[in-house]
Amino acid sequence: EWQPNSFVAEAIERVKAQVGDHGRVICALSGGVDSAVAALIIHRAIGDRLTCVFVDNGLLRAGEAEQVIATFSEHFHVPLIAVDAREEFMTALKGVTDPEQKRKIIGEKFIRIFEREARALAGVEFLAQGTLYPDVIESTAPDRPKAAKIKTHHNVGGLPADMQLKLVEPLRYLFKDEVRAAGLQLGLPETWVWRHPFPGPGLAVRIIGEVTWERLEILRQADKIFLEELHASGYYRATQQAFAVLLPVQSVGVMGDGRTYGVTIALRAITTEDYMTADWARLPYELLAHVSSRIVNEVEGVNRVVYDISSKPPATIEWE
Ligand code: XMP
Repeated sequence: EWQPNSFVAEAIERVKAQVGDHGRVICALSGGVDSAVAALIIHRAIGDRLTCVFVDNGLLRAGEAEQVIATFSEHFHVPLIAVDAREEFMTALKGVTDPEQKRKIIGEKFIRIFEREARALAGVEFLAQGTLYPDVIESTAPDRPKAAKIKTHHNVGGLPADMQLKLVEPLRYLFKDEVRAAGLQLGLPETWVWRHPFPGPGLAVRIIGEVTWERLEILRQADKIFLEELHASGYYRATQQAFAVLLPVQSVGVMGDGRTYGVTIALRAITTEDYMTADWARLPYELLAHVSSRIVNEVEGVNRVVYDISSKPPATIEWE
């Protein structure tokens, strides 16, 4: 029977054998489970010959950048380059409203920044990727029917092709549940291990229309409240993805003696096996009521909260 213990040990040995006694590895951390577990395995194998790069694109959830730095740099002592690229991404996204355009800009910018950091590191020969076994099967079985590609997905996986780096893929024999078990084994905090997936383009595809600093701040605060309440009620683990979306639709509200004119926050929570189809989560009314009142009371600029009751298909999980 499979044991996380033996898998972790085996993966560490495999990395050691591949990278050798002098090889250096670069790894992009996204804040998700896969890149975190891949990085920890490699770090166990080759120590400080691993350098992680974390790019703060300004499109992350509340506290994410701080958490990546605290966990990897301060807790695990993994060499980490944290790049503050918030201004750079925001400038590139100015005036952009088309979702696919947003994805393209964010994906390309990420690659350029990562390349810049990689080239500045002397003697790096290897690039780590958090490729899982299902991705390996999919790419080696071209006759296997693939899901219709509706959105171009970019991940930290889509890295520079012309960099001549050799790939290190410590997760390539693992399924997702095995990656989580390995993460726990390696001491990754439980809240990290059970994180819902988060799209590469981040909050940019959860703000309908133009991405502005002000909208990002509103969305981050609303999303934080929703996630806090899901964790507190136990519903985070009972759903596979949950988040807030900012709709730039302004509607009239009333607060005290005055009228308000604020934006709308849509809450989305889904259950799914494989993210190809999904159902909206039947969250308790009391929970929704509490989240709604916290958001309108605590987040300035929001006066209306709605709950998305669409399944996939026909709706997708994300709104863009
Ligand atoms: P949809 O919205 O197509 O999403 O039902 C299915 C899953 O994919 C995630 N998603 C993305 N992930 N880059 C990513 O890395 C993207 O551009 C992207 N778009 C959607 C989505 O969060 C869900 O888990």
